[in-house]
Amino acid sequence: MSIFRELTEGLPRQGPGSAETTLRALGLTRGIPPRPRILDVGCGPGAQTIELARATGGRIVAVDIRQRFLDELTERASAAGVLAQVTTVNTSMFDMDFADASFDLIWSEGAIYIAGFAAGLGAWRRFLKPGGWIAVSELTWLVPDPPAEAAAYWARSYPGMGSIERNCQIVAEAGYVDPDGFVLPVDDWWSYYGPAERRVAELREKYAGDREVLATLDEADREPDLFRAYSDAYGYVFYVMRKPAA
Ligand SMILES: C[S@@+](CC[C@H](N)C(=O)[O-])C[C@H]1O[C@@H](n2cnc3c(N)ncnc32)[C@H](O)[C@@H]1O
Repeated sequence: MSIFRELTEGLPRQGPGSAETTLRALGLTRGIPPRPRILDVGCGPGAQTIELARATGGRIVAVDIRQRFLDELTERASAAGVLAQVTTVNTSMFDMDFADASFDLIWSEGAIYIAGFAAGLGAWRRFLKPGGWIAVSELTWLVPDPPAEAAAYWARSYPGMGSIERNCQIVAEAGYVDPDGFVLPVDDWWSYYGPAERRVAELREKYAGDREVLATLDEADREPDLFRAYSDAYGYVFYVMRKPAA
């Protein structure tokens, strides 16, 4: 098994978030029909997919390129009693070929960065019905002059990271209206980093003496350490908006 797989397998989330945050973002949408059709892009093991299924009673197409995450989602959806509402699709977000105007809601937690914020919002728009909503969480600078260490780390790891102002501009340029949103609470990061850090600690024991693996584990520990130091400077922001009705 690869070390990346060992680092991520079976963790509850693959990015910052919580049930409360998913429901808060859902609450910013208006006029979603009963039992909506939802597309969840980069669903991972599906914590948010299950929450959306429960809250909306809708049918969710959950897309990811890692089959093991889709399998974890299937198991969790089954345990939660919402499996009949969830269809998993193993495809890349770059290759989605769903019909135009076929979804009432597009959801993506911690995954639009893979396409790029502007490119993802632009490319996925056609899948929305007129008046349909899109909600995405995106790593965002919260201050105009971030500390040098944080700026240098994210310049390497996510050079496309924008400010709230810049991202709101992108939302408008992509043709969406009624934008709303909020910064995710710091606790949402620890629901992700907490289990991830415990996994790193277990793997340090398992691979004690393997310098190559230990270097990878050191790198995995950097992100939470950076967030501990600079959580005022950057955060995840939920952006919620809709395609115009006509
Ligand atoms: C940071 S994780 C977020 C997962 C989940 N939404 C969550 O919050 O737990 C990003 C997800 O995007 C998936 N992913 C990576 N590249 C992808 C692609 N090209 N198309 C679809 N999904 C992709 C990864 O497998 C991973 O599950």
